Amino acid sequence: MSLRNCQNVKVLEVTPVGQLKRPDEFFEIKLEYPDWDRWKPGQFVMIRPTGWELDLLWARPFSICSVDDDTLTLFVQKVGRGTARITALKPGDDVAIWGPLGNSFAVEPETPTLLLSGGIGIAPFRGYVEQHPHPENLNLFLAHRLPLECYPFGKLSEKINGQCMIEEKPDDLQQIIASMRELIKEYADKDGLILSCGPTPFMRTVQQFANEFGARAQVSLENRMACGVGACLGCVTKDGNDHHVQVCTKGPVFWTDKVEL
Ligand SMILES: Cc1cc2nc3c(=O)[nH]c(=O)nc-3n(C[C@H](O)[C@H](O)[C@H](O)COP(=O)(O)OP(=O)(O)OC[C@H]3O[C@@H](n4cnc5c(N)ncnc54)[C@H](O)[C@@H]3O)c2cc1C
Ligand code: FES
Repeated sequence: MSLRNCQNVKVLEVTPVGQLKRPDEFFEIKLEYPDWDRWKPGQFVMIRPTGWELDLLWARPFSICSVDDDTLTLFVQKVGRGTARITALKPGDDVAIWGPLGNSFAVEPETPTLLLSGGIGIAPFRGYVEQHPHPENLNLFLAHRLPLECYPFGKLSEKINGQCMIEEKPDDLQQIIASMRELIKEYADKDGLILSCGPTPFMRTVQQFANEFGARAQVSLENRMACGVGACLGCVTKDGNDHHVQVCTKGPVFWTDKVEL
């Protein structure tokens, strides 16, 4: 993948999700499907609206949430300048997009698989559930701070087992961590697979318990990215052997024993 694979596509829909009247709002964004042969859940795209000109230089990375015949769906949380401008796009606007980028989550159809998501980290699991040959083997856990209707949890829990916990007061975090510990132990005991996506502290908790119980677990990292194709070195982290690796090309998905968090 290189920037030569960059395409322009049109925005089809930008729909607010949930009824929040606060700055951190959530949006489902539908784009024309780029000219891709295939994609895998866990991969991501770099997006740069053409209207940005030189105002905002760098594109922004987003997980591929789901794809149907002619639509690519992203799920975007407004957190800063770039996402504020992306979520204000209108149908018909042009967006430069390159992808699908990076590696993908492991798929073991017959293995009990736990999907651990922290907040917006639920986004790639929508596509994962849609593509999985045996969704009855999947179990979703969502830890979130904003109201549940902000996340595509309802749609997913219609298809697979799902549980969620909200963090509203300080004690809640300890309960969330205790539940994650219990779940990770359960999946380690049955040699299940654990896939996780969320903010770095959430990933560190997954890694800590995966190490403690010897669980087979993957984390998807959300490092800051500028190029998405391995060129700028803006996203580097260390692998399990103290070597620097680009998250955009070697990840974003890593086995927990192969990455330093
Ligand atoms: C592989 C990958 C997949 C992602 N998938 C999603 C997704 O599906 N939905 C979603 O809402 N967000 C996702 N993100 C995070 C999203 O890219 C950032 O929230 C976005 O780039 C912030 O841009 P901003 O200009 O609004 O924020 P800024 O104003 O630049 O900063 C606001 C906050 O966002 C963080 N941030 C800024 N730029 C980046 C960046 N390029 N990468 C990561 N964090 C950044 C900053 O550390 C800061 O905390 C993903 C990130 C990665 C790396
Ligand atoms: S984002 Fe440029 S090297 Fe990874």
